[in-house]
Amino acid sequence: MSGNGVKPAQGKLGVLLPGMGAVATTFIAGVEAVRRGISEPIGSLTQLAHIRLGKRTDDRNPFIRDFVPLSGLEDLVFGGWDPIPDNAYESALNAGVLNKYEHIEPLADFLKGIKPMPAVFDNRYVTRIDGTNVKTGSTKRDLGEQLRQDIRDFKEQHGCDRMVMVWCASTEIFLQPSDVHMSLEKFEQALDADDPAIAPSMIYAWAAIMEGVPFANGAPNLTVDFPAIQDLAKREGVAISGKDFKSGQTMMKTILAPGLKARMIGLSGWFSTNILGNRDGAVLDDPDSFKTKEESKLGVIEHILQPKLHPELYGNVYHKVRIEYYPPRGDNKEGWDNLDIFGWMGYPMQIKVDFLCRDSILAAPIVLDLALFMDLAQRAGMSGIQEWLSFYFKSPMTAPGLYPEHDLFIQHMKLKNTLRHLMGEDQITHLGLEYYEDTVEVS
Ligand SMILES: NC(=O)c1ccc[n+]([C@@H]2O[C@H](COP(=O)([O-])OP(=O)(O)OC[C@H]3O[C@@H](n4cnc5c(N)ncnc54)[C@H](O)[C@@H]3O)[C@@H](O)[C@H]2O)c1
Repeated sequence: MSGNGVKPAQGKLGVLLPGMGAVATTFIAGVEAVRRGISEPIGSLTQLAHIRLGKRTDDRNPFIRDFVPLSGLEDLVFGGWDPIPDNAYESALNAGVLNKYEHIEPLADFLKGIKPMPAVFDNRYVTRIDGTNVKTGSTKRDLGEQLRQDIRDFKEQHGCDRMVMVWCASTEIFLQPSDVHMSLEKFEQALDADDPAIAPSMIYAWAAIMEGVPFANGAPNLTVDFPAIQDLAKREGVAISGKDFKSGQTMMKTILAPGLKARMIGLSGWFSTNILGNRDGAVLDDPDSFKTKEESKLGVIEHILQPKLHPELYGNVYHKVRIEYYPPRGDNKEGWDNLDIFGWMGYPMQIKVDFLCRDSILAAPIVLDLALFMDLAQRAGMSGIQEWLSFYFKSPMTAPGLYPEHDLFIQHMKLKNTLRHLMGEDQITHLGLEYYEDTVEVS
Protein backbone atom coordinates (compact mmCIF):
# COMPACT_ATOMS: atom_id res chain seq x y z
CA MET A 1 0.00 0.00 0.00
CA SER A 2 1.08 3.57 -0.64
CA GLY A 3 -0.45 6.96 0.10
CA ASN A 4 -3.87 6.66 1.61
CA GLY A 5 -4.25 2.94 0.97
CA VAL A 6 -3.71 2.88 -2.80
CA LYS A 7 -2.23 -0.43 -3.91
CA PRO A 8 1.00 -0.05 -5.91
CA ALA A 9 0.98 -0.39 -9.71
CA GLN A 10 3.02 -3.57 -9.92
CA GLY A 11 3.26 -5.75 -13.03
CA LYS A 12 1.71 -5.35 -16.44
CA LEU A 13 -1.53 -3.50 -17.19
CA GLY A 14 -3.58 -4.92 -20.08
CA VAL A 15 -5.41 -2.16 -21.96
CA LEU A 16 -8.34 -3.68 -23.83
CA LEU A 17 -10.01 -1.65 -26.53
CA PRO A 18 -13.33 -2.58 -28.10
CA GLY A 19 -12.91 -0.82 -31.48
CA MET A 20 -9.47 -0.70 -33.08
CA GLY A 21 -10.03 2.19 -35.49
CA ALA A 22 -8.53 5.68 -35.73
CA VAL A 23 -8.52 6.65 -32.04
CA ALA A 24 -7.34 3.27 -30.74
CA THR A 25 -4.50 2.85 -33.24
CA THR A 26 -3.34 6.47 -32.81
CA PHE A 27 -3.25 5.86 -29.07
CA ILE A 28 -1.35 2.55 -29.33
CA ALA A 29 1.15 3.88 -31.88
CA GLY A 30 1.74 7.01 -29.81
CA VAL A 31 2.48 5.07 -26.61
CA GLU A 32 4.92 2.85 -28.50
CA ALA A 33 6.56 5.90 -30.09
CA VAL A 34 7.03 7.44 -26.64
CA ARG A 35 8.45 4.15 -25.34
CA ARG A 36 10.97 4.14 -28.21
CA GLY A 37 11.92 7.74 -27.52
CA ILE A 38 10.70 9.11 -30.85
CA SER A 39 7.75 11.09 -29.54
CA GLU A 40 6.46 13.04 -26.53
CA PRO A 41 3.13 12.25 -24.79
CA ILE A 42 1.63 15.64 -25.62
CA GLY A 43 -1.89 16.20 -24.29
CA SER A 44 -1.55 13.69 -21.46
CA LEU A 45 -1.86 14.90 -17.87
CA THR A 46 -0.63 11.61 -16.48
CA GLN A 47 2.64 12.02 -18.37
CA LEU A 48 3.27 15.75 -18.51
CA ALA A 49 1.26 17.60 -15.86
CA HIS A 50 2.51 18.68 -12.46
CA ILE A 51 0.39 19.02 -9.36
CA ARG A 52 0.85 21.68 -6.75
CA LEU A 53 0.92 20.41 -3.15
CA GLY A 54 0.68 22.53 -0.02
CA LYS A 55 1.16 26.28 0.01
CA ARG A 56 2.43 28.31 -2.94
CA THR A 57 5.49 29.07 -0.83
CA ASP A 58 6.24 25.35 -0.28
CA ASP A 59 7.54 24.90 -3.83
CA ARG A 60 6.18 21.34 -4.16
CA ASN A 61 5.11 20.65 -7.75
CA PRO A 62 5.78 17.00 -8.56
CA PHE A 63 4.71 15.34 -11.78
CA ILE A 64 1.31 13.68 -11.30
CA ARG A 65 2.98 10.41 -12.33
CA ASP A 66 5.49 10.77 -9.48
CA PHE A 67 2.82 11.78 -6.97
CA VAL A 68 0.26 8.97 -7.46
CA PRO A 69 1.22 5.37 -8.20
CA LEU A 70 0.41 4.98 -11.91
CA SER A 71 1.34 2.23 -14.27
CA GLY A 72 4.41 3.12 -16.32
CA LEU A 73 4.07 3.20 -20.12
CA GLU A 74 6.55 0.31 -20.35
CA ASP A 75 4.07 -1.88 -18.44
CA LEU A 76 1.14 -1.39 -20.85
CA VAL A 77 0.03 -4.27 -23.10
CA PHE A 78 -2.62 -3.65 -25.78
CA GLY A 79 -5.44 -5.79 -27.11
CA GLY A 80 -8.89 -5.31 -28.54
CA TRP A 81 -11.82 -6.41 -30.62
CA ASP A 82 -13.07 -5.21 -34.00
CA PRO A 83 -15.48 -6.62 -36.58
CA ILE A 84 -12.95 -5.54 -39.22
CA PRO A 85 -10.05 -8.03 -39.08
CA ASP A 86 -7.24 -5.53 -39.86
CA ASN A 87 -4.31 -5.56 -37.46
CA ALA A 88 -3.27 -2.28 -35.81
CA TYR A 89 -0.78 -1.54 -38.62
CA GLU A 90 -3.39 -1.94 -41.38
CA SER A 91 -6.00 -0.10 -39.36
CA ALA A 92 -3.64 2.83 -38.65
CA LEU A 93 -2.86 3.08 -42.38
CA ASN A 94 -6.55 3.01 -43.21
CA ALA A 95 -7.35 5.67 -40.59
CA GLY A 96 -4.90 8.05 -42.23
CA VAL A 97 -4.18 9.96 -39.03
CA LEU A 98 -0.47 9.28 -38.68
CA ASN A 99 2.18 9.79 -41.31
CA LYS A 100 2.94 6.43 -42.96
CA TYR A 101 6.70 6.93 -43.27
CA GLU A 102 7.42 8.95 -40.17
CA HIS A 103 5.20 7.22 -37.62
CA ILE A 104 3.66 3.98 -38.91
CA GLU A 105 6.46 2.16 -40.75
CA PRO A 106 8.99 2.58 -37.92
CA LEU A 107 6.47 0.87 -35.60
CA ALA A 108 5.22 -1.68 -38.16
CA ASP A 109 6.65 -4.75 -36.39
CA PHE A 110 4.91 -3.79 -33.17
CA LEU A 111 1.59 -2.72 -34.72
CA LYS A 112 1.28 -5.83 -36.90
CA GLY A 113 1.41 -7.95 -33.74
CA ILE A 114 -1.83 -6.45 -32.41
CA LYS A 115 -4.74 -8.25 -34.04
CA PRO A 116 -8.33 -7.70 -33.05
CA MET A 117 -10.25 -10.51 -31.41
CA PRO A 118 -13.63 -11.32 -33.02
CA ALA A 119 -16.10 -8.66 -31.92
CA VAL A 120 -19.55 -8.76 -30.44
CA PHE A 121 -21.08 -6.79 -33.25
CA ASP A 122 -24.53 -6.29 -34.71
CA ASN A 123 -25.00 -3.82 -37.49
CA ARG A 124 -28.49 -2.94 -36.35
CA TYR A 125 -26.66 -0.80 -33.75
CA VAL A 126 -23.93 0.56 -36.06
CA THR A 127 -25.47 0.54 -39.49
CA ARG A 128 -22.62 1.87 -41.62
CA ILE A 129 -20.11 -0.90 -40.83
CA ASP A 130 -19.97 -4.47 -42.05
CA GLY A 131 -17.47 -6.83 -40.55
CA THR A 132 -16.39 -10.42 -40.87
CA ASN A 133 -14.49 -10.73 -37.61
CA VAL A 134 -17.59 -11.30 -35.53
CA LYS A 135 -18.55 -13.74 -32.78
CA THR A 136 -21.60 -15.94 -33.00
CA GLY A 137 -23.47 -17.12 -29.94
CA SER A 138 -26.77 -18.55 -28.83
CA THR A 139 -27.74 -15.51 -26.72
CA LYS A 140 -26.37 -12.13 -25.72
CA ARG A 141 -25.30 -13.66 -22.42
CA ASP A 142 -23.40 -16.32 -24.36
CA LEU A 143 -21.62 -13.55 -26.31
CA GLY A 144 -20.82 -11.85 -23.01
CA GLU A 145 -19.40 -15.10 -21.63
CA GLN A 146 -17.18 -15.38 -24.72
CA LEU A 147 -15.86 -11.86 -24.04
CA ARG A 148 -15.16 -12.85 -20.44
CA GLN A 149 -13.17 -15.79 -21.71
CA ASP A 150 -11.23 -13.46 -24.07
CA ILE A 151 -10.37 -11.23 -21.10
CA ARG A 152 -9.12 -14.17 -19.03
CA ASP A 153 -7.15 -15.61 -21.95
CA PHE A 154 -5.53 -12.25 -22.73
CA LYS A 155 -4.57 -11.79 -19.11
CA GLU A 156 -2.95 -15.18 -18.96
CA GLN A 157 -1.21 -15.04 -22.36
CA HIS A 158 0.31 -11.63 -21.67
CA GLY A 159 1.02 -12.15 -17.99
CA CYS A 160 -1.03 -9.12 -16.96
CA ASP A 161 -1.44 -8.22 -13.34
CA ARG A 162 -4.46 -5.98 -13.99
CA MET A 163 -6.68 -4.97 -16.91
CA VAL A 164 -8.70 -1.95 -17.95
CA MET A 165 -11.16 -1.51 -20.85
CA VAL A 166 -11.76 1.72 -22.81
CA TRP A 167 -14.56 1.73 -25.41
CA CYS A 168 -13.09 3.16 -28.64
CA ALA A 169 -15.66 1.61 -30.99
CA SER A 170 -18.21 3.34 -33.17
CA THR A 171 -21.14 5.32 -31.85
CA GLU A 172 -24.21 3.13 -31.61
CA ILE A 173 -27.73 4.22 -32.47
CA PHE A 174 -29.63 6.30 -29.93
CA LEU A 175 -31.14 4.17 -27.18
CA GLN A 176 -33.02 5.46 -24.18
CA PRO A 177 -32.97 3.65 -20.83
CA SER A 178 -35.94 1.29 -20.64
CA ASP A 179 -37.32 -1.11 -18.11
CA VAL A 180 -34.57 -3.71 -18.67
CA HIS A 181 -31.92 -1.12 -17.75
CA MET A 182 -33.45 -0.36 -14.38
CA SER A 183 -32.43 -3.43 -12.39
CA LEU A 184 -29.67 -5.98 -12.66
CA GLU A 185 -32.14 -8.83 -12.52
CA LYS A 186 -34.08 -7.50 -15.53
CA PHE A 187 -30.88 -6.69 -17.38
CA GLU A 188 -29.56 -10.24 -16.99
CA GLN A 189 -32.93 -11.67 -18.03
CA ALA A 190 -32.73 -9.47 -21.11
CA LEU A 191 -29.25 -10.83 -21.87
CA ASP A 192 -30.76 -14.33 -21.88
CA ALA A 193 -33.75 -13.23 -23.94
CA ASP A 194 -31.69 -11.40 -26.60
CA ASP A 195 -33.63 -8.24 -25.89
CA PRO A 196 -32.98 -5.52 -28.54
CA ALA A 197 -32.56 -2.96 -25.73
CA ILE A 198 -29.17 -4.56 -24.99
CA ALA A 199 -26.59 -3.06 -27.38
CA PRO A 200 -23.18 -4.67 -28.00
CA SER A 201 -21.38 -2.00 -25.92
CA MET A 202 -23.45 -3.05 -22.89
CA ILE A 203 -22.34 -6.66 -23.37
CA TYR A 204 -18.66 -5.57 -23.31
CA ALA A 205 -19.31 -3.49 -20.20
CA TRP A 206 -21.09 -6.38 -18.48
CA ALA A 207 -18.23 -8.76 -19.33
CA ALA A 208 -15.58 -6.31 -18.12
CA ILE A 209 -17.31 -5.65 -14.82
CA MET A 210 -17.95 -9.35 -14.23
CA GLU A 211 -14.20 -9.88 -14.67
CA GLY A 212 -13.36 -7.03 -12.27
CA VAL A 213 -12.03 -4.86 -15.12
CA PRO A 214 -12.70 -1.09 -14.93
CA PHE A 215 -14.60 0.23 -17.96
CA ALA A 216 -14.46 3.73 -19.51
CA ASN A 217 -16.85 4.69 -22.31
CA GLY A 218 -15.37 6.93 -25.02
CA ALA A 219 -18.52 7.13 -27.14
CA PRO A 220 -21.89 8.70 -26.34
CA ASN A 221 -23.68 5.31 -26.21
CA LEU A 222 -25.81 4.43 -23.19
CA THR A 223 -23.37 1.55 -22.36
CA VAL A 224 -22.78 2.08 -18.59
CA ASP A 225 -25.12 5.02 -18.05
CA PHE A 226 -28.04 3.23 -16.42
CA PRO A 227 -28.88 1.81 -12.98
CA ALA A 228 -28.55 -1.95 -13.71
CA ILE A 229 -24.93 -1.80 -14.81
CA GLN A 230 -24.06 0.77 -12.15
CA ASP A 231 -25.46 -1.56 -9.49
CA LEU A 232 -23.37 -4.36 -10.96
CA ALA A 233 -20.24 -2.17 -10.84
CA LYS A 234 -20.93 -1.39 -7.19
CA ARG A 235 -21.60 -5.03 -6.37
CA GLU A 236 -18.39 -6.18 -8.04
CA GLY A 237 -16.36 -3.21 -6.72
CA VAL A 238 -15.42 -2.04 -10.22
CA ALA A 239 -14.79 1.53 -11.45
CA ILE A 240 -16.79 2.81 -14.45
CA SER A 241 -16.77 6.16 -16.25
CA GLY A 242 -18.17 7.93 -19.31
CA LYS A 243 -19.17 9.16 -21.62
CA ASP A 244 -17.87 10.41 -24.99
CA PHE A 245 -14.28 11.68 -25.12
CA LYS A 246 -14.18 15.48 -24.82
CA SER A 247 -11.72 16.21 -27.60
CA GLY A 248 -12.29 19.04 -30.14
CA GLN A 249 -15.28 21.30 -30.39
CA THR A 250 -16.77 20.43 -27.01
CA MET A 251 -13.43 21.02 -25.32
CA MET A 252 -13.48 24.54 -26.83
CA LYS A 253 -17.08 25.02 -25.67
CA THR A 254 -16.24 24.09 -22.12
CA ILE A 255 -13.32 26.52 -22.19
CA LEU A 256 -15.26 29.46 -23.70
CA ALA A 257 -18.63 29.15 -21.96
CA PRO A 258 -17.21 29.34 -18.40
CA GLY A 259 -15.27 32.46 -19.43
CA LEU A 260 -18.38 34.22 -20.72
CA LYS A 261 -20.30 33.25 -17.63
CA ALA A 262 -17.52 34.33 -15.28
CA ARG A 263 -17.76 37.84 -16.82
CA MET A 264 -21.60 37.82 -16.89
CA ILE A 265 -21.61 38.27 -20.68
CA GLY A 266 -24.92 37.25 -22.32
CA LEU A 267 -25.39 34.63 -25.03
CA SER A 268 -28.23 34.51 -27.53
CA GLY A 269 -27.01 31.82 -29.92
CA TRP A 270 -24.30 29.24 -30.48
CA PHE A 271 -24.11 27.48 -33.83
CA SER A 272 -21.54 24.69 -34.21
CA THR A 273 -20.85 22.75 -37.35
CA ASN A 274 -18.17 20.24 -38.29
CA ILE A 275 -16.93 18.59 -41.43
CA LEU A 276 -15.09 15.31 -41.06
CA GLY A 277 -14.38 12.42 -43.36
CA ASN A 278 -13.15 9.48 -41.31
CA ARG A 279 -14.98 6.23 -40.50
CA ASP A 280 -16.46 7.89 -37.40
CA GLY A 281 -17.88 10.58 -39.70
CA ALA A 282 -19.40 7.91 -41.95
CA VAL A 283 -21.05 6.23 -38.95
CA LEU A 284 -22.36 9.60 -37.72
CA ASP A 285 -23.89 10.18 -41.15
CA ASP A 286 -26.57 7.74 -40.02
CA PRO A 287 -29.23 9.92 -38.34
CA ASP A 288 -29.70 7.43 -35.48
CA SER A 289 -26.00 7.46 -34.56
CA PHE A 290 -25.88 11.24 -35.01
CA LYS A 291 -28.79 11.59 -32.59
CA THR A 292 -26.69 9.85 -29.90
CA LYS A 293 -23.83 12.29 -30.56
CA GLU A 294 -26.10 15.32 -30.75
CA GLU A 295 -27.63 14.60 -27.34
CA SER A 296 -24.13 14.34 -25.93
CA LYS A 297 -22.98 17.62 -27.47
CA LEU A 298 -26.07 19.69 -26.65
CA GLY A 299 -26.15 19.37 -22.88
CA VAL A 300 -22.88 21.18 -22.30
CA ILE A 301 -23.84 24.85 -22.58
CA GLU A 302 -27.02 24.67 -20.56
CA HIS A 303 -25.28 23.06 -17.61
CA ILE A 304 -22.45 25.58 -17.63
CA LEU A 305 -24.56 28.70 -18.11
CA GLN A 306 -27.36 27.81 -15.65
CA PRO A 307 -30.16 29.74 -17.44
CA LYS A 308 -32.51 29.34 -14.49
CA LEU A 309 -30.14 31.38 -12.32
CA HIS A 310 -29.42 33.89 -15.11
CA PRO A 311 -32.57 34.24 -17.25
CA GLU A 312 -31.54 37.73 -18.45
CA LEU A 313 -28.22 36.39 -19.83
CA TYR A 314 -28.91 32.81 -20.85
CA GLY A 315 -32.67 32.34 -20.76
CA ASN A 316 -33.06 32.29 -24.53
CA VAL A 317 -30.01 30.62 -26.11
CA TYR A 318 -30.43 29.08 -29.56
CA HIS A 319 -27.97 26.15 -29.62
CA LYS A 320 -27.51 24.07 -32.74
CA VAL A 321 -24.92 21.38 -33.53
CA ARG A 322 -24.27 19.80 -36.92
CA ILE A 323 -21.83 17.14 -38.13
CA GLU A 324 -21.36 16.73 -41.86
CA TYR A 325 -19.60 13.74 -43.40
CA TYR A 326 -17.12 15.10 -45.95
CA PRO A 327 -14.63 12.41 -47.07
CA PRO A 328 -11.85 14.67 -48.48
CA ARG A 329 -11.00 15.84 -44.95
CA GLY A 330 -10.37 12.37 -43.49
CA ASP A 331 -9.58 12.63 -39.78
CA ASN A 332 -8.60 16.30 -40.09
CA LYS A 333 -11.87 17.77 -39.05
CA GLU A 334 -12.82 21.42 -39.24
CA GLY A 335 -15.15 22.75 -36.58
CA TRP A 336 -16.76 26.16 -36.88
CA ASP A 337 -18.46 27.90 -34.01
CA ASN A 338 -20.42 31.11 -34.21
CA LEU A 339 -21.35 32.68 -30.88
CA ASP A 340 -23.82 35.55 -30.73
CA ILE A 341 -23.12 37.27 -27.45
CA PHE A 342 -24.25 40.53 -25.86
CA GLY A 343 -22.76 42.96 -23.39
CA TRP A 344 -23.46 46.15 -21.45
CA MET A 345 -26.90 47.55 -22.31
CA GLY A 346 -27.56 44.56 -24.53
CA TYR A 347 -25.18 45.48 -27.38
CA PRO A 348 -24.57 42.45 -29.62
CA MET A 349 -21.14 41.04 -30.49
CA GLN A 350 -19.91 37.89 -32.19
CA ILE A 351 -17.13 35.38 -31.69
CA LYS A 352 -16.04 33.03 -34.49
CA VAL A 353 -13.93 29.98 -33.86
CA ASP A 354 -12.47 27.95 -36.71
CA PHE A 355 -10.75 24.94 -35.19
CA LEU A 356 -8.72 22.92 -37.68
CA CYS A 357 -8.26 19.98 -35.39
CA ARG A 358 -7.22 16.37 -35.65
CA ASP A 359 -9.77 14.34 -33.78
CA SER A 360 -7.73 11.27 -33.01
CA ILE A 361 -4.65 13.30 -32.08
CA LEU A 362 -6.77 15.01 -29.41
CA ALA A 363 -8.49 11.79 -28.31
CA ALA A 364 -5.41 9.53 -27.99
CA PRO A 365 -3.97 11.12 -24.81
CA ILE A 366 -7.46 10.99 -23.29
CA VAL A 367 -7.49 7.21 -23.81
CA LEU A 368 -4.09 6.95 -22.14
CA ASP A 369 -5.08 9.07 -19.13
CA LEU A 370 -8.36 7.23 -18.70
CA ALA A 371 -6.65 3.84 -18.83
CA LEU A 372 -4.12 4.89 -16.19
CA PHE A 373 -6.54 6.78 -13.94
CA MET A 374 -9.22 4.07 -14.11
CA ASP A 375 -6.59 1.54 -13.05
CA LEU A 376 -5.57 3.90 -10.23
CA ALA A 377 -9.20 4.23 -9.12
CA GLN A 378 -9.56 0.47 -9.06
CA ARG A 379 -6.40 0.06 -6.97
CA ALA A 380 -7.67 2.78 -4.63
CA GLY A 381 -10.89 0.81 -4.06
CA MET A 382 -13.10 3.40 -5.79
CA SER A 383 -16.00 1.60 -7.44
CA GLY A 384 -18.98 2.76 -9.50
CA ILE A 385 -19.08 6.10 -11.36
CA GLN A 386 -15.78 8.03 -11.31
CA GLU A 387 -17.12 11.56 -11.54
CA TRP A 388 -13.64 13.01 -10.94
CA LEU A 389 -12.78 11.94 -14.50
CA SER A 390 -15.51 14.24 -15.97
CA PHE A 391 -12.59 16.30 -17.31
CA TYR A 392 -12.26 13.80 -20.15
CA PHE A 393 -15.92 13.47 -21.15
CA LYS A 394 -18.46 15.43 -23.19
CA SER A 395 -21.35 13.98 -21.21
CA PRO A 396 -20.03 13.20 -17.73
CA MET A 397 -21.88 10.55 -15.76
CA THR A 398 -22.92 11.48 -12.23
CA ALA A 399 -24.73 10.00 -9.26
CA PRO A 400 -28.53 10.04 -9.73
CA GLY A 401 -30.01 13.48 -9.08
CA LEU A 402 -26.72 15.37 -9.55
CA TYR A 403 -26.29 17.66 -12.53
CA PRO A 404 -23.04 17.05 -14.42
CA GLU A 405 -20.17 19.51 -14.06
CA HIS A 406 -19.07 20.56 -17.57
CA ASP A 407 -16.78 23.52 -16.85
CA LEU A 408 -13.30 22.32 -17.86
CA PHE A 409 -11.62 24.31 -15.11
CA ILE A 410 -13.85 22.98 -12.33
CA GLN A 411 -13.36 19.49 -13.73
CA HIS A 412 -9.60 20.02 -13.70
CA MET A 413 -9.62 21.18 -10.10
CA LYS A 414 -11.84 18.26 -9.12
CA LEU A 415 -9.45 15.81 -10.76
CA LYS A 416 -6.41 17.23 -9.00
CA ASN A 417 -8.17 17.51 -5.65
CA THR A 418 -9.21 13.86 -5.95
CA LEU A 419 -5.56 12.90 -6.46
CA ARG A 420 -4.57 15.00 -3.43
CA HIS A 421 -7.34 13.36 -1.42
CA LEU A 422 -6.22 9.87 -2.46
CA MET A 423 -2.69 10.59 -1.28
CA GLY A 424 -3.71 12.27 1.99
CA GLU A 425 -2.65 15.80 0.91
CA ASP A 426 -4.58 19.00 1.74
CA GLN A 427 -7.14 20.23 -0.79
CA ILE A 428 -6.26 23.44 -2.56
CA THR A 429 -9.05 26.00 -2.26
CA HIS A 430 -7.17 29.04 -3.68
CA LEU A 431 -8.36 31.10 -0.69
CA GLY A 432 -4.81 32.18 0.10
CA LEU A 433 -5.59 34.58 2.98
CA GLU A 434 -2.78 33.08 5.04
CA TYR A 435 -0.17 34.67 2.77
CA TYR A 436 -1.32 38.10 3.95
CA GLU A 437 -1.82 37.42 7.64
CA ASP A 438 1.74 38.35 8.69
CA THR A 439 1.68 41.65 6.81
CA VAL A 440 -1.27 43.13 8.73
CA GLU A 441 0.06 46.03 10.80
CA VAL A 442 -0.69 45.73 14.47
CA SER A 443 -0.72 49.07 16.22
N1 LIG B 1 -11.82 11.14 -32.19
C1 LIG B 1 -12.41 11.89 -31.30
O1 LIG B 1 -12.02 12.99 -31.05
C2 LIG B 1 -13.59 11.33 -30.57
C3 LIG B 1 -14.19 12.14 -29.61
C4 LIG B 1 -15.27 11.66 -28.90
C5 LIG B 1 -15.72 10.38 -29.13
N2 LIG B 1 -15.15 9.63 -30.10
C6 LIG B 1 -15.71 8.32 -30.32
O2 LIG B 1 -14.72 7.34 -30.28
C7 LIG B 1 -15.13 6.27 -31.10
C8 LIG B 1 -13.98 5.88 -32.02
O3 LIG B 1 -13.71 6.91 -32.94
P1 LIG B 1 -12.77 6.60 -34.18
O4 LIG B 1 -12.53 7.89 -34.87
O5 LIG B 1 -11.64 5.76 -33.77
O6 LIG B 1 -13.76 5.72 -35.10
P2 LIG B 1 -13.37 4.57 -36.14
O7 LIG B 1 -14.58 4.39 -36.98
O8 LIG B 1 -12.08 4.84 -36.81
O9 LIG B 1 -13.15 3.28 -35.21
C9 LIG B 1 -14.20 2.63 -34.57
C10 LIG B 1 -13.97 1.14 -34.75
O10 LIG B 1 -14.94 0.47 -33.95
C11 LIG B 1 -15.27 -0.72 -34.62
N3 LIG B 1 -16.51 -1.24 -34.03
C12 LIG B 1 -17.80 -0.88 -34.27
N4 LIG B 1 -18.63 -1.61 -33.49
C13 LIG B 1 -17.85 -2.44 -32.75
C14 LIG B 1 -18.13 -3.43 -31.78
N5 LIG B 1 -19.38 -3.70 -31.42
N6 LIG B 1 -17.09 -4.07 -31.20
C15 LIG B 1 -15.81 -3.78 -31.55
N7 LIG B 1 -15.49 -2.87 -32.47
C16 LIG B 1 -16.51 -2.20 -33.08
C17 LIG B 1 -15.35 -0.31 -36.09
O11 LIG B 1 -15.22 -1.41 -36.94
C18 LIG B 1 -14.17 0.65 -36.18
O12 LIG B 1 -12.99 0.01 -36.60
C19 LIG B 1 -16.39 6.72 -31.84
O13 LIG B 1 -17.52 6.24 -31.18
C20 LIG B 1 -16.31 8.20 -31.69
O14 LIG B 1 -17.60 8.82 -31.78
C21 LIG B 1 -14.08 10.07 -30.82
